[in-house]
Amino acid sequence: MRYGGWYQIAFERELEQAVSSVPVGDRRLLIVRHQGEINVYDAICPHRGADLGIGGKLVESNIITCPYHGHRVSLGGEGGGPYCVRKYPVQVRSGLVFALIGGFEEGKLPEMLDYLERTHKIFPGFTKTIKVPPEMVIENAFDWAHFPPVHDVIKVEYGEPTIEDGVFTATTTLRVGPSMWQGTDDGSHHDDGSTWVEVPLLARAYSPNLTITQVAVGGGDHPHFVIASAVPMLDGTSTIRLSVAMPRLAEGIDPPQELADIILQFESMGLEQDRPVWENLALDMTPQYTADDENVLKYRNFCERFILNGRA
Ligand code: FES
Ligand SMILES: [Fe+2]
Repeated sequence: MRYGGWYQIAFERELEQAVSSVPVGDRRLLIVRHQGEINVYDAICPHRGADLGIGGKLVESNIITCPYHGHRVSLGGEGGGPYCVRKYPVQVRSGLVFALIGGFEEGKLPEMLDYLERTHKIFPGFTKTIKVPPEMVIENAFDWAHFPPVHDVIKVEYGEPTIEDGVFTATTTLRVGPSMWQGTDDGSHHDDGSTWVEVPLLARAYSPNLTITQVAVGGGDHPHFVIASAVPMLDGTSTIRLSVAMPRLAEGIDPPQELADIILQFESMGLEQDRPVWENLALDMTPQYTADDENVLKYRNFCERFILNGRA
């Protein structure tokens, strides 16, 4: 796999056992649940390569026995013994499990998640498999020129991206028709000025594999956030996990699940609109970019800082 950085590697609800194994590109990660804590390690047994997440047994909080020859493997190097697997930095928030791959800085993601948990309720969403590299999924938020043809919007305004504290940030404002929100447009795309709404997006990429996008439907001052991550699989697909954070209605009053479901459904529909283009992309051709692709090129440039190139 090409890039490291933050990935959402699982939803907590997917972790039914005390130990499980999840693929991330050419790595396999071991997720261990123990006494309400979740930790992530390399899943490959250093003895001869068995997957510790498939049949491994947690015998102490930091020791797992391998399902193949029964060697004791130390989790994260504590506990001694000849075998040990590396530990990854994790963030577990509101049912979402993030891991940082490649030894990069944690950066601003933990702070952003703090903010969202304080002011919003995070609703874990859905998983989708699409045959596309993960960085293309994340790039989508910055490829403003694709919105009108693919997502049926009539107008896009966009800002110059910035990189602050390692976060790639760009604003895009869409003018969205009723068909997207209410299913009532007759296909004429007639903008009578009343039913079309402005939707300012403020997208932040924390890595080539994770964006958190602030969405203010109608320009309101109670935006919701979409948390989207894409994890590469060896077969060329990506596992996309998408969740939403809805603003609290008042101090201590959670927004209803139904509201989150509407947004999740809308986001799912958006990905299905991208799917036919993504799944048939010629990834080996040489692009001939235009001036409209400037934000994409800047995002691509940002991705370079996450190249793994043999990094742990
Ligand atoms: S492969 Fe793990 S003990 Fe042999
Ligand atoms: Fe898209």
